[in-house]
Amino acid sequence: MKKKIALALAGLMMLGLVGCAAAPAAAPAAAPAAAEETEEAAEEAEEAAEAVEEAVEEVAEEAAAEDAEGFTTVQEGYLTMGTNAYFPPYEFYEGDSIVGIDAEIAAAIAEKLGLELKIEDMEFDSIITAVTTGKVDMGLAGMTVTEDRKKNVNFSESYATGVQVVIVPEDSDIASIDDLEGKMIGVQLGTTGDIYCSGDYGEENVEQFNKGNDAVMALMTGKVDCVVIDNEPAKSYVAANEGLKILDTEYVVEEYAAAISKENEPLLAAIDAALAELKADGTLDAIVAKYIPAEAE
Ligand code: ARG
Repeated sequence: MKKKIALALAGLMMLGLVGCAAAPAAAPAAAPAAAEETEEAAEEAEEAAEAVEEAVEEVAEEAAAEDAEGFTTVQEGYLTMGTNAYFPPYEFYEGDSIVGIDAEIAAAIAEKLGLELKIEDMEFDSIITAVTTGKVDMGLAGMTVTEDRKKNVNFSESYATGVQVVIVPEDSDIASIDDLEGKMIGVQLGTTGDIYCSGDYGEENVEQFNKGNDAVMALMTGKVDCVVIDNEPAKSYVAANEGLKILDTEYVVEEYAAAISKENEPLLAAIDAALAELKADGTLDAIVAKYIPAEAE
């Protein structure tokens, strides 16, 4: 953009020089015809200068518009979000459409950026790669900010807090985190629950499932002794399945944020600005309250 302006300015300056040079050359001719010609030439030069000036203005306006947006998206006019839609109340299917806190926050961000939202459902484990390879603009999936993930993607400001909790059958002998040693733990593949449990209790004691639901089903059928997962999905799973409970003790407290390509800093800035506005005007709270009524005081 700057280059274009510079070129246009150079053009303008050249015309200016030509105009100056043409006038003295024609001036010595005293004949009326010559005077007319001189006048004509001057007019022409003036017109040309005006045209260049207009062009410069146009280019500058274009540049300003681009600066206001400043970012590009995977598909023009769209904000493409990658998620794993088996994570209520953040993202889940209602019929054929994906709804939930993240889906609504993304829609609100897209609106602020003048874009239309497009949601791509994928394995949780694939979201970061989808962001880094430019398949999606942002990962929004109740995704925890971790130092390891930060090596691959940029994270927006946090928009929610998550807590890793333990789901057990109501009659389980697991009473607290300290009883997990030697138990079979179900997790969703690639989540922080998976990462922490594999580290703390050994991979041989962790069974990974593609979806949180699958881990909970395994718990229902006794294939695992407990499931470690984020607190809000845990609440929905326990509400939807008889005979399960959540342990009182919190395993890990975390922050959720949007993951964006390191190559798209302007988009990160735009999303952060949109999030700040949504926080300030109460939209974010209203969305959360809609899906987590208990927190709406
Ligand atoms: N907060 C956890 C993590 O970032 C789990 C997120 C799972 N999200 C999902 N949409 N399935 O690893």
